[in-house]
Amino acid sequence: MAALADKRLVFVTGKGGVGKSTVAIALGLAAARRGLRTIVAELSGQARAAEAFGVKPPSGEEVRLTDRLHAISVDMEHAMEEYLHERAGRVGDLLAASRAFHAFAHATPGMRELLSVGKVWELAAERRRVPGAQPYDLVLVDAPATGHALGALRAPATFAEIARVGPIAHQGRTIDATLRDPAQTAVVAVALPEEMPVTETLALRRGLRDAIGQEPAVVVVNACLPQRLGPRQATTAAQALEATDDRVAHAALRAALSQHARAGAQREQVARLGDAPAPVELPYLFASATLGPAELATLADRLEPLL
Ligand SMILES: Nc1ncnc2c1ncn2[C@@H]1O[C@H](COP(=O)(O)OP(=O)(O)O)[C@@H](O)[C@H]1O
Ligand SMILES: [Mg+2]
Repeated sequence: MAALADKRLVFVTGKGGVGKSTVAIALGLAAARRGLRTIVAELSGQARAAEAFGVKPPSGEEVRLTDRLHAISVDMEHAMEEYLHERAGRVGDLLAASRAFHAFAHATPGMRELLSVGKVWELAAERRRVPGAQPYDLVLVDAPATGHALGALRAPATFAEIARVGPIAHQGRTIDATLRDPAQTAVVAVALPEEMPVTETLALRRGLRDAIGQEPAVVVVNACLPQRLGPRQATTAAQALEATDDRVAHAALRAALSQHARAGAQREQVARLGDAPAPVELPYLFASATLGPAELATLADRLEPLL
């Protein structure tokens, strides 16, 4: 079992739209219920967690959602100012206020990724840099989609290599060591039971090994349809469909068979994921527009065993 509760940093990634934010928030709820001081850190530029709880978050700041659950939408500018202030005090503040410096930072490839990962690492640190801030037991990172998430995970090592010596190299190495340590950092891969998201999950496996020498600790397959008919029942339904003249019965049987076919196709996709680790399935939830606290709590129940 993955025992995510024992880690400090858990990155949740996968293809766009598969349910990364949903899974990160649901895991956050489950962890907070366990008694862990938890934060969902969104790198996607959204504030889905706060939104789901009806809280308006100030950009780049930590907000409290429930007793032990917090959220932050990590903002590059904010993270950079914080870092410069902590490292260089007044000189850092002057740099942070300088337009030329901002332009330089934005133009440096990988700088955004480095600052984002640096910030989530800071949230998980034993001693917080932010004055007066308390450490978290668990930081759940609502990471960007696969390719960008891998870029972010690679950034600390890349910068350490380029800088070689000095504070950036040192910091880069420290963060990279945390990311590579399976006792401290885990990656949760989220997929839908469809061809493209499953293919992307398989690619993530390879990319992750390459980036931080880890395998995904957990693979979540989100929005799975139930398989309501067994093979014999499906055959019976198909025969009944042939035989019936009744329009309502016809429509009902067709709907049942088409759902059965979709669920079957989903099974084939889940099988492609293999069983190391065994995929954890979440049900498709019928809800209006976006999932609210009640649906998130249902998903949190399902994810609880992963902690
Ligand atoms: N298990 C589910 N059942 C039904 N809808 C879901 C489920 N998981 C996510 N959704 C919905 O799918 C959409 C995409 O989910 P989201 O978590 O935002 O994906 P991502 O962060 O990967 O882009 C959202 O509208 C969300 O409410
Ligand atoms: Mg998202």
